[in-house]
Amino acid sequence: MRKRFIYVICLTLTIVVAGMAYAQFDKPQDAIKYRQAVMILLGHHFGKIGAALGGASEDKTIVQDARVVAMLAPLPWEAFLVPGTDNGDTTMSSKVFEDTGTFKSDAAAFEKEAIKLDQVAAGGKMDALKVQFGAVAKTCKACHGNFRNR
Ligand code: HEC
Repeated sequence: MRKRFIYVICLTLTIVVAGMAYAQFDKPQDAIKYRQAVMILLGHHFGKIGAALGGASEDKTIVQDARVVAMLAPLPWEAFLVPGTDNGDTTMSSKVFEDTGTFKSDAAAFEKEAIKLDQVAAGGKMDALKVQFGAVAKTCKACHGNFRNR
């Protein structure tokens, strides 16, 4: 029992420390590159689902693409909150620092819909998937409208 308890504590610490290491970037530009890389992947895999739903390509990889989108969804947000990263090679608006609460809730709304997209894609019903694709797209647009300079 005690051993098990210690094991759980160690495991928790490992996860916490790994999480902290992961959130650190040597330079602000590294954080910018990281989050842009995640966004590019999101755009690619989400775009593939959209193309398949629109009939522009085969739908063979929809389930995998939706899984990738759901897996990427929690990754980039720390990198958006690194101080100073509203300057440099970025289109992120400084509003992220002025209204971090809204940024985080926009991110959470997207994550929630992305998880649902994965579940609906696994269910294989195209009509439901179209609806859910639209719901996710809305959350991408909402955040870009609020926090991305164009
Ligand atoms: C909570 C906010 C938020 C959500 C949700 C979000 N984005 Fe973004 N996205 C941003 C911001 C801010 C940038 C600008 C990043 C930068 O330049 O540092 C960005 C940049 C991008 C880029 C350009 C990347 C580059 O540098 O070339 C693409 C593509 C993109 N997002 C796609 C998406 C897609 C697709 C979704 C939804 C499936 C999505 N984003 C959801 C905030 C968000």
